[in-house]
Amino acid sequence: MQTFILPDSLLLGTATAATQIEGSDPNTNWAAWHRAGRIEHNDSPLTGAGHACHMQEDIDLLAAMHQQTYRLSIEWSRFEPQENRWSEEGTAYYRDELSRLAARGIRPLVTLHHFSHPQWFEEKGQWTSPEAVPLFLRFVERAVRALGGLAADYCTINEPNVFVMSSYMDGDFPPGHKDDLKSYFTAARRLIEAHVKAYSLIHRIRREMGFGDTRVGFAMHYTYLERHPRRRLTALAKGGMDYLFHTLFEKGFIEGRLVPPLGLGRLARGACCDFVGVNYYTRHIIYPGKNPATLFGEPRTGEGMDAGALSDMGWEIYPEGLYRVCRRVAERWQLPIYITENGIADTEDAKRGRFIAEHLHVVYRLIAENVPVERYYYWSLIDNLEWNFGYWPRFGLVEVDYATGRRTLRGSARLYAEICRTHTVSIQEEENA
Ligand code: BGC
Repeated sequence: MQTFILPDSLLLGTATAATQIEGSDPNTNWAAWHRAGRIEHNDSPLTGAGHACHMQEDIDLLAAMHQQTYRLSIEWSRFEPQENRWSEEGTAYYRDELSRLAARGIRPLVTLHHFSHPQWFEEKGQWTSPEAVPLFLRFVERAVRALGGLAADYCTINEPNVFVMSSYMDGDFPPGHKDDLKSYFTAARRLIEAHVKAYSLIHRIRREMGFGDTRVGFAMHYTYLERHPRRRLTALAKGGMDYLFHTLFEKGFIEGRLVPPLGLGRLARGACCDFVGVNYYTRHIIYPGKNPATLFGEPRTGEGMDAGALSDMGWEIYPEGLYRVCRRVAERWQLPIYITENGIADTEDAKRGRFIAEHLHVVYRLIAENVPVERYYYWSLIDNLEWNFGYWPRFGLVEVDYATGRRTLRGSARLYAEICRTHTVSIQEEENA
């Protein structure tokens, strides 16, 4: 048994997103995506975990599990269900949620765009529309003013790289385009501009309101990419993918700089990120492929591996990848790192406890090497809608019975609660090690 102690300065928590857990909002583009029959098993974001009705119970669970911080998203369509028609109810809903968190002493990290937005925004061409940035900023301004002192930490955009990939290359997210590189780049550029402008807007608004403790960043999806060990030419695709999937977005979001093929030049003079959010799940190995849009490479995870090494979704469990991506971020950007997501789909809860312990061991090593990891959020607090896959993947520490809404703590939830309480982690040696 190996035991290590995490520093008290590292805040531990869990993450969720509105559309994945709340239910009840018919005005998002994901509600429309469901109506169009695009979610597996016809699962609907309007049912599911029903967090909107179980809010206090879920916050009690967070507190019972000794969580110090909670990453949640606020849904734009609750604030602005129809274009330029603002809902007092939506504002009150999130003020209420944040007040309940404050009453339990849990520090929120609020995401402003987590894959979903109002259907009216979708119908305008969403992030490819020339109006996208001003429309988003108008919502941000309203929301940040309305939330005032209830939230100091903001994450502007969740995983811009996965968002444009799924929306414009893979076709899994609305609007469902495939291999549409032009829209991929247009949307990427607008997301960068939206973030850079939201960064200074949020700081300015909160400064005007008398708050000096604002922190703004974004959450970036990092996969650990490797070329195929026996196919040397896949190194070219790997380099290209790394650039188009990671570097392009890092330069834009962290440095405020447009790089080819998005354009050239700076969008901001000063800082545009107070922290880098790292969402890490797995590694991908590049196999040779036929599609020029993916640079003749095909990233695959878990190929040919035993089920024991994989999540229920077939993703390889590879904690070392978290080490590599955080080192990369620290070397390139010298900013505080929040691990804004890390988790596993594991219905049986057979692998989750070890998964968390091994990834926290990586965090421990990183901090010992002076990599400034300040927070770790397990994805997710409760089972939720895994976007186009629907409800079958189970990422929750807490199991949700979707028929009754009943919450049950899994074994890994008890283990993580103990880690949060003591900051002490133990890893059992593998039997055959
Ligand atoms: C997203 C989450 C998602 C998780 C697991 C991330 O890409 O931010 O919304 O549920 O990964 O796939």
